[in-house]
Amino acid sequence: MDLLVLGSGIAGLSAAIHAAQRGWTVGVITKGELATTATRYAQGGVAAVLGDPDTTELHQTDTLVAGAGLCDTDAVHILVTEGPRRVRELMELGAKFDEKNGALALAIEGGHSLPRVVHAGGDATGAEIERALAEAAHALPNIDVRERCFSVDVLVEQRRCVGVRALDPTGRPMEIRARHTILATGGAGQLFAVTTNPPVSTGDGIGMALRAGVSVADVEFMQFHPTALDHPSMPRPLLSEALRGDGAVLRDEHGERFMVGEHPLADLAPRDVVARAIARRLVARKLPHLWLDTTSIEDFPERFPTIWASAQSVGLDPRVDLLPVAPAAHYLSGGIATDLDGASTLPGLWSCGEAACSGVHGANRLASNSLLDGLVFAPRIVEAIAAGKDAPESAGVLRGAPMEVLTPDLMPARPEGSISLVALQSLMTNGAGVLRDAESLERCAERVAIDVDAHDAATFELRNLLTVARSLVGAALAREESRGTHTRLDFPDTSPEFLGRFFGAGETPWFVPLPVEART
Ligand code: SIN
Repeated sequence: MDLLVLGSGIAGLSAAIHAAQRGWTVGVITKGELATTATRYAQGGVAAVLGDPDTTELHQTDTLVAGAGLCDTDAVHILVTEGPRRVRELMELGAKFDEKNGALALAIEGGHSLPRVVHAGGDATGAEIERALAEAAHALPNIDVRERCFSVDVLVEQRRCVGVRALDPTGRPMEIRARHTILATGGAGQLFAVTTNPPVSTGDGIGMALRAGVSVADVEFMQFHPTALDHPSMPRPLLSEALRGDGAVLRDEHGERFMVGEHPLADLAPRDVVARAIARRLVARKLPHLWLDTTSIEDFPERFPTIWASAQSVGLDPRVDLLPVAPAAHYLSGGIATDLDGASTLPGLWSCGEAACSGVHGANRLASNSLLDGLVFAPRIVEAIAAGKDAPESAGVLRGAPMEVLTPDLMPARPEGSISLVALQSLMTNGAGVLRDAESLERCAERVAIDVDAHDAATFELRNLLTVARSLVGAALAREESRGTHTRLDFPDTSPEFLGRFFGAGETPWFVPLPVEART
């Protein structure tokens, strides 16, 4: 086949559809069903510049500010300038976004200087996008969708990716070969005990890439959403930032609006700032949660039907009750290192969406830039392959990357051990969560320095999570500063010494300073 796509979220399906529209033979493999992806859970929407008074310069500035110095400026420029066209294409495919007075309704979220977030079904944006993309994919006869197939490892021959080893729906091993393979397998929120991500977010693509010696970057930057509903259900019900865009405010246990004074944008500060402000108070005051006051929002059930249903199901009425909130692992800003066309450091292997790291999110992704990332960077892969590209350029996160980063370096074998998923999640939550220090990270490093005996989908997922955990913890230990979503209690300041990226594939991460022309 021409193209094999792993993952069926916004990035994977966008790539598959663009490739199929060119007449290529395309395979989409997903370990669950087509729609069981993190995309489906996205509430807030898609940030894009769709008219006056917004400008791509403003969107670019907001993205760079949120990214805390580590965004790749070219990647951000591509995101904000190609984004509007991709959103319109999605509408042509059938996605229906909410309107107000005959125009697209635009919401504001944290870190945005004005309303630019389109949404669907109020707060069911991801579900609507997934529906439209799945329908479009099913209508293309040259896309072969294989559900309940678990991809185990990348197949490498003569230093080139030639497909994957996988388990068929009955658990039988098989090989799937393709000229090009895209890892669009999403993030790794299941590394943490409290996450907004669905159970499928187990870092599979990143784990596969690491085992094949493919470089990953920026994986210390796990973004925690500040306002997940504090309730035992998993994934944690998300209380979208769009609520704060519509006037909701955070309050502490005394009813005080603590974000006023923390940041000029108060409750609409970038996500890392808000998550940190909450986490510090929870630790210092030994509290399980703070509060989100949504009582000023008009027409709550109509504007936010998903959140309304979540709140109602636990006996809360957002029109009169304060909602208990605490941070939850939400989005991995780092991932498989790629250039601006999604090329990884292994020829024939590409990546897009949350699994990838083109440098567009830096140290902290701007709200509602993630769906946009998938929409923009997935078709670039198809266009690059069509143009004959086969190896990465020195661009995006790979700008200025030395040979150590570009050359596959197989991971050494590790002693076999055992750890349960619950134990790993609890370890990472306590040691590598919103607030970290050397001691807590060392504890994690020691415990994750093992491999598990993997033989079925569940144990392969655990192996992938462990692989990602080693990389995340290694980079988090090495980054002796606080920046974006990486907060070191023992190194509270941002340091110019760390204006660069940690890349990993082998045991020790390499630090590569940001080239001068890439600094913002
Ligand atoms: C939200 O609705 O708050 C989440 C949006 C995002 O993660 O970008």
